[in-house]
Amino acid sequence: MMYIKLASFLTILPSLVGGVPTTGPHVKRAGCAQCEDVAHGFASLNGGTYGGKGGQIVTVTTYADLKKYAGATEPYIIRVSGTIVAEPKGYEVPIKSFKTIIGVGQTGHLLGGGFNINSQRNIIIRNLEISDTYDPTDYNGKGADWDGIQVDNGTNIWIDHVKLARMRDGLIDLRKDTDYVTVSSCLLSEHNKAFGIGWTPNVISKMTINDNFFNSTNQRGPSADNLKYCHMYNNYMLNVTSYGNYARGETELLVETSYYERVNDPVVAGPKASIKSNWLKFKDCTGDIHLDVDSHKVFKASKFYSYELKDPYDLPTTIPPFVGPRPEIGI
Ligand SMILES: *[C@@H]1O[C@H](CO)[C@@H](O)[C@H](O)[C@H]1NC(C)=O
Ligand SMILES: *[C@@H]1O[C@H](CO)[C@@H](O)[C@H](O)[C@H]1NC(C)=O
Ligand SMILES: *[C@@H]1O[C@H](CO)[C@@H](O)[C@H](O)[C@H]1NC(C)=O
Repeated sequence: MMYIKLASFLTILPSLVGGVPTTGPHVKRAGCAQCEDVAHGFASLNGGTYGGKGGQIVTVTTYADLKKYAGATEPYIIRVSGTIVAEPKGYEVPIKSFKTIIGVGQTGHLLGGGFNINSQRNIIIRNLEISDTYDPTDYNGKGADWDGIQVDNGTNIWIDHVKLARMRDGLIDLRKDTDYVTVSSCLLSEHNKAFGIGWTPNVISKMTINDNFFNSTNQRGPSADNLKYCHMYNNYMLNVTSYGNYARGETELLVETSYYERVNDPVVAGPKASIKSNWLKFKDCTGDIHLDVDSHKVFKASKFYSYELKDPYDLPTTIPPFVGPRPEIGI
């Protein structure tokens, strides 16, 4: 609550000092200008994903405060300032419905732990770094289920401009019918099992995965099991040793305008999955590429929302500088 007062004090300040008007973009900057942004893609359906919009804005610098506000029953916009170290290592902070967790500037960092969302809805995680629960004696992450962001049965989730690296199990694990999700402008790097979706016999989940950079991962870019609709576009994958986009179970995968560089098995389908691809660029890739697997079955994303495709040849220069925390989002 203290921080709300501080923010409104700051908005008054310019008018006291320099006669700057109290409205307009200058003033908005002091008031968390991007904190009420809403999701695009599948997360924009089903009523939309707006997180803690309309709730109180708090800034947290300690693990205790992060846990307290993330787990509150009321909506909150939680600004994370600086590095917060998880204790105990690997613990996943539970997030309850109607929260936006957003880093301040490029400083927001949860170190040595992650987040967990279980049977909750309408949550935004943005402009943050989450890293370093990796245990070098446990490359396969079998010893502890320490993920960066783990979601079970979550609805309307937006993960945007998050930088994830070196976790013990998965960077992002979206499980058990988690639905209406958008993962955009994230960096997933230096990791074995990057991004897993599934752990369900049902085929209902709908996800948009766009403008992400997968760099130096081994597998799961993503592993997408039993998704009703999986829409991927404008993604750049670099130096991936085991496999890239893997449609498993009965997943319908629409994959568009993406760039794959030094990726083994860049786009592959399991026996019951289908893939429709649109303008993919491959450079120095190895293994299998499945461009058309029962593509007549695959959904049309434009029936659900509008979106902008980029020229895949540009992605190695246009994607890496804009993934993860950005000063213009953390203002
Ligand atoms: C899924 O989450 C919703 C709340 O968003 C809850 O009502 C429902 O019981 C949960 N289902 C399961 C199987 O846990
Ligand atoms: C990709 O990751 C490697 C290993 O971490 C790093 O050395 C390299 O700079 C990264 N590339 C880009 C374009 O960020
Ligand atoms: C490629 O990724 C692996 C990890 O999967 C890493 O050890 C290696 O340094 C990366 N190579 C480059 C050139 O970034």
